[in-house]
Amino acid sequence: MTRHSPLTSLLTCGLGDSEYTYFCNGGKVIDKRLQELGARHFYDTGHADDCVGLELVVEPWIAGLWTALTKHFKSSGGQEEMNGALPSASNTLLKPEMLHMESQIELLRLDDSRGRDSEVLEQGEVNRSDSSTSVKELEPSLVRSIPPLSQASLSIPALPPEYLQVHLRESLGQEESQESVTSLDPVFQVPISKAIQLTADDAIKTTLLLELDISTTGFSYQPGDAFNVICPNSDSEVHSLLQRLQLADQREHRVFLEIKADTKKKGAVLPQHVPEGRSLQFILTWCLEIRSIPKKAFVRALADYTSDSAEKRRLQELCSKQGASDYALYVRDAAACLLDLLLAFPSCHPPLGLLLEHLPKLQPRPYSCASSGLCHPDKLRFVFNIVEFPKSEAVVLRRGVCTGWLATLADPLLQPNTEASQADNREDWAPKVSISPRAVNSFHLPSDHSAPVIMVGPGTGIAPFIGFLQHREKLQEQHPDGSFGAMWLFFGCRHKDRDYLFREELQHFLARGILTHLKVSFSRETPVGEAAALAKYVQDNLQLHSQELARLLLEEDGCIYVCGDAKNMAKDVNDALAEIISREAGVDKLEAMKTLATLKEEKRYLQDIWS
Ligand code: 2AM
Repeated sequence: MTRHSPLTSLLTCGLGDSEYTYFCNGGKVIDKRLQELGARHFYDTGHADDCVGLELVVEPWIAGLWTALTKHFKSSGGQEEMNGALPSASNTLLKPEMLHMESQIELLRLDDSRGRDSEVLEQGEVNRSDSSTSVKELEPSLVRSIPPLSQASLSIPALPPEYLQVHLRESLGQEESQESVTSLDPVFQVPISKAIQLTADDAIKTTLLLELDISTTGFSYQPGDAFNVICPNSDSEVHSLLQRLQLADQREHRVFLEIKADTKKKGAVLPQHVPEGRSLQFILTWCLEIRSIPKKAFVRALADYTSDSAEKRRLQELCSKQGASDYALYVRDAAACLLDLLLAFPSCHPPLGLLLEHLPKLQPRPYSCASSGLCHPDKLRFVFNIVEFPKSEAVVLRRGVCTGWLATLADPLLQPNTEASQADNREDWAPKVSISPRAVNSFHLPSDHSAPVIMVGPGTGIAPFIGFLQHREKLQEQHPDGSFGAMWLFFGCRHKDRDYLFREELQHFLARGILTHLKVSFSRETPVGEAAALAKYVQDNLQLHSQELARLLLEEDGCIYVCGDAKNMAKDVNDALAEIISREAGVDKLEAMKTLATLKEEKRYLQDIWS
């Protein structure tokens, strides 16, 4: 918005992610409010989508900005405010401070990703398994020689990357403890007491259930709660990275980092999540997300340290506007990481400081509890799919950082999903994982037990509902005369005999009347019968029970819970609910959406979703 008085001119570029329900909401709300206050647009509004790459909108938006500003200030008589100092689009980077000082323009950066935590809980890995390019394919195509492009558009933070020095130090007998790697508090190291494969061997995805023994921790939880798992990067990937950086540990010695005395004097510090005094191997294992997909700013910085001119040009191209589709194909969709880039560009030798600056903090992974603390106070169960990628023609098949690590840990304990798996793990030794409770959320059963409960959870989205059902069973045992509302579960999987998770448990809850309605959709079975043909996905089954669901939600104060994939499922379920309400209550779609918003506000429509 320009600081003409009164408020008149407005331009916004919202940053968001269309996987979430309210795309660019922050930007939209402020934009609307400023218009209500009298501001008028003089430049097209941008809505940048992190799902496909913010740069696709941000870069052309910035590129066109100068022309629009020049035109606007000329036509609004504000030219003198710019002091004739408008830089041309072709030869400059956009610098917010320049705008602020020279043209009295405020840049409002409205990034709605900050609001995500409250809306979204991620379950395990970001699933990157849909990539269509294998790592091997990446190499020749990345270095394809294409003339360099002239214009870079976004600047990167200007920390001096050479502020570190590296030296070998004896590390014999110094086992580096992982304790201080996290700021989470409290952290409990707990043994895995049981591991069960829930899916058949021929299922498309492998789902594991792990049970943790929390008896010595004082950790308590409610069904619907989530907790964090603190996971390391894989030893072999860390080793490969160290080797490629020519910093691999030597016998009895490890590589340590120190900030150079002269740069320390100038205020150089390590990023907050990189502890001092630890070996590089430790830092790469426990502190940095080495699998993260390098952002364009990182690729651009890597190009500065690439000596071969063809490789350098290719890297520059990848982070240019014209290279956007190649970046999307070979980097983002292929889930390429730093190691892949370094292997594909052998003449790239970045200083360590640069890597520390650009590699994000290794994040703990949240999982939903799949058990009830009321029934099993000493145990905590959770489920996850072992994430594998890339899918096609994979030469190097990778597993997700956390799910791959958990699967390896659990491997010696793994039992098939049979009656025998009800037995406790008899191993004397059990692998341990570090966990930490997550902040309280509202994904809990209603306090009024007589309120109807509708649960929608395809795939591993069923996890919290197993906890809900165990909890309800225990409560009903404790209060046989209590009044308990109906419990509906909408579950979806691909095949009846391969990935129908918790099938026996669900039959048990159904037989005991805990679960009153169980609606299962099979997305890849040949449909038998009319209803099955209509219900490929959970939302199709919701539609088939439109009338009852509307009654439960609108007349009987019911609560609806949705757990699982945010990208497609949660959105489609939301649309289906809006249609159901619109149809059954005889209102238009907008009114139905308002009703859903009210249900959300009243915490009667709750989501635990991830991408
Ligand atoms: P599909 O993979 O066969 O398409 C658990 O992952 C189940 O959720 C699978 O049966 C999967 O089906 C299904 N699923 C995929 N996309 C979905 C969507 N948009 N809405 C609901 N379920 C979906």
